[in-house]
Amino acid sequence: MTFIMVDMGSVCKFVCLLIILNSVHLASSFKWPVPYKRFSERPPTNPYCQAGLIGFCPTGEVPDTMPKFNPTDRVEVWALKAPVWEFKFGDLLEKFHIMHDAMAFNNLNTGQNYTMEWYELFQLFNCTFPHLLQNDTLLWCNQGAACIYDGVDDLHWSQNGTLVKVAEITGDVFNKFAMWALNDNKTGIYYETWTVEEKPGGKMWFDSYDCASFVLRAFDELYALGATFNHSVHLNYTRIHLYSHEPQYLGNASVVFGPGANKTLVKDIIEFYAKFQSHQSMKDLLEHLIEAYIEIFKDGKFYFFYNFEYWFLPMKSPYMKLTYYEIPLPGKNETDLSHREKKLVWHYDEKAGVSHANSKHLSVSNEDKNTLHFKGHADDKDKLHFKKHDGH
Ligand SMILES: *[C@@H]1O[C@H](CO)[C@@H](O)[C@H](O)[C@H]1NC(C)=O
Ligand SMILES: *[C@@H]1O[C@H](CO)[C@@H](O)[C@H](O)[C@H]1NC(C)=O
Ligand SMILES: *[C@@H]1O[C@H](CO)[C@@H](O)[C@H](O)[C@H]1NC(C)=O
Ligand SMILES: *[C@@H]1O[C@H](CO)[C@@H](O)[C@H](O)[C@H]1NC(C)=O
Ligand SMILES: *[C@@H]1O[C@H](CO)[C@@H](O)[C@H](O)[C@H]1NC(C)=O
Ligand SMILES: *[C@@H]1O[C@H](CO)[C@@H](O)[C@H](O)[C@H]1NC(C)=O
Ligand SMILES: *[C@@H]1O[C@H](CO)[C@@H](O)[C@H](O)[C@H]1NC(C)=O
Ligand SMILES: *[C@@H]1O[C@H](CO)[C@@H](O)[C@H](O)[C@H]1NC(C)=O
Ligand SMILES: *[C@@H]1O[C@H](CO)[C@@H](O)[C@H](O)[C@H]1NC(C)=O
Ligand SMILES: *[C@@H]1O[C@H](CO)[C@@H](O)[C@H](O)[C@H]1NC(C)=O
Repeated sequence: MTFIMVDMGSVCKFVCLLIILNSVHLASSFKWPVPYKRFSERPPTNPYCQAGLIGFCPTGEVPDTMPKFNPTDRVEVWALKAPVWEFKFGDLLEKFHIMHDAMAFNNLNTGQNYTMEWYELFQLFNCTFPHLLQNDTLLWCNQGAACIYDGVDDLHWSQNGTLVKVAEITGDVFNKFAMWALNDNKTGIYYETWTVEEKPGGKMWFDSYDCASFVLRAFDELYALGATFNHSVHLNYTRIHLYSHEPQYLGNASVVFGPGANKTLVKDIIEFYAKFQSHQSMKDLLEHLIEAYIEIFKDGKFYFFYNFEYWFLPMKSPYMKLTYYEIPLPGKNETDLSHREKKLVWHYDEKAGVSHANSKHLSVSNEDKNTLHFKGHADDKDKLHFKKHDGH
């Protein structure tokens, strides 16, 4: 009897193993791109997460409120763009086309206008990589949210960026949009820097969720509410892509790091994120992105965090790319969007002959206004070797 029990036990273990293997197999057929998770409400931020010098939305309206217009008011909708951190980098990031997107509403009846943007509560670097705490746990300060404030700084947006009217709506449409915006802000709580795809123009595994995606979905919502957009206006948006074979699901923090965790995996993840621990010095952002880039193609792996869950990305060439392509305003019938993927911006070529350079000497060539080409080589973690690349 005892013998049979034991035997049954191992049969069960075998069957269970089969079931587990089978469910692992099933689990690999995910719905792509993985939908960005909506939450029922925004949780309080971890007190460890602190904004730098300037807090989130310092001049904003009363939190979680939107202005309310007279239903018959005429309201202009504007698209705004400015280079990210131009105050720190001059126009370097403008040449890289890392642009910040925002929108504005100008009420023609009241003469009041408003700027609206969706951005990181604790800045971009904090949203892109977690903090590695003393006890080897990871803490993400990756919330993002919408901020609406009085006025539009026309000069700021127009001088090195974009300030263009895209539509005119009624106060009624604005009020409906405002309801949508409050709900969107409550349920879409975290920022995602990366767009993860199979290859340039290929299958998308994960979509980004950033300032640009806010403007795009806000315009889509306005269109759904009846706004007509001016299709003579052409707007391009920044995307930072990672390229990977089919991502492997790892699980949430309690599965990955909790009791019974795979120690090898934990060590590997910690080592990966340990490379990106310069949350304080924003001036190093560009260098860290490039450093990240090198680590990614050197090891062919990336630990990715989405919907508060970890994934493993088996990275593949061209590993990482920054694009600045047009996305038409809603209502324009455009089905073929493949043109968005034609240009390479950061293209790594392992076989390239290399010229020595330190990452500090990253030179920006601007012979083609839209793209910055360089070839990189990663034989030394602390040095970047690259040369100008004539493009494809
Ligand atoms: C990133 O988060 C850390 C920890 O909260 C904080 O000290 C730092 O100021 C943040 N960085 C920026 C640029 O806000
Ligand atoms: C969005 O949420 C943030 C964080 O809770 C809040 O500070 C902000 O006021 C909200 N924005 C709007 C437009 O309601
Ligand atoms: C916003 O209002 C100010 C003050 O009236 C005006 O100078 C500015 O041009 C307006 N900008 C937009 C985009 O409506
Ligand atoms: C690690 O440290 C943080 C901050 O001190 C703490 O909140 C967290 O509970 C700790 N985690 C573990 C697993 O000890
Ligand atoms: C535009 O760029 C120039 C050159 O980088 C800079 O001096 C100027 O302050 C920028 N303008 C605005 C409004 O940020
Ligand atoms: C549409 O946009 C174009 C380009 O910016 C502009 O010349 C034109 O006046 C706009 N049309 C309307 C009706 O606003
Ligand atoms: C983490 O994932 C496990 C397994 O899917 C689940 O049981 C648990 O509730 C999750 N924990 C959180 C905090 O979501
Ligand atoms: C643990 O993680 C490592 C690294 O990802 C992996 O190679 C190994 O197969 C995992 N072990 C188990 C038992 O899942
Ligand atoms: C905007 O995108 C289009 C195609 O998507 C491209 O042809 C154009 O050069 C881009 N403009 C800039 C300024 O990069
Ligand atoms: C959009 O374009 C497609 C393909 O060219 C066409 O079949 C479809 O009817 C068009 N839709 C509209 C609303 O014009």
